[in-house]
Amino acid sequence: MFNIVLIGFMGAGKTEVGRRLAEKLEMNFVDIDDLIETKAGMKITQIFSEFGESYFRGLERKEVEYISNLTNYVIASGGGTVLNKDNMDALKRQGIFIYLKASAEVIFERTRYSAHRPLLENVSPYDQIKRLLSYRTPFYEASDYTIDTSNLNIDQVVDKIIELLKIGRRESS
Ligand code: S3P
Repeated sequence: MFNIVLIGFMGAGKTEVGRRLAEKLEMNFVDIDDLIETKAGMKITQIFSEFGESYFRGLERKEVEYISNLTNYVIASGGGTVLNKDNMDALKRQGIFIYLKASAEVIFERTRYSAHRPLLENVSPYDQIKRLLSYRTPFYEASDYTIDTSNLNIDQVVDKIIELLKIGRRESS
């Protein structure tokens, strides 16, 4: 039993891909941000605006520790989860890492109308994406596998992951 951990920048498709991948592989699915919101009883944007980013990172750290002890999960991380070495080490214990990669241009297009990404608010979003992406790329690249999602839809990414892991699909027919 193992976990599949999806990592990558905001807008990479971690949540949508994760949910569909879990369905196909008959694994459980968890999204770290959802878990944080449920436990805190607040939206991520509200946590950032009321308590700040470092408080959010503390909540994230706790949830990662909890999730890392589960098995047979597809885990959608947050875009900044992998910046913390303790998070990486915990998730790596029984997780295979898949980096869902996308260019700054694609990320900008995918996130420009989203209202739930505090790190892209009150800044020039494209510049912020480029800046954060270049800082974070080495962290994302410490992954077991990389898939460039720029020109792929959700199902194509899911199929690529299945192909990569050579798990094979459980056919329903
Ligand atoms: C963050 C990404 C978000 C969320 C928070 C911080 C980041 O998750 O965890 O807003 O640091 O990139 P998504 O990548 O799911 O948007």
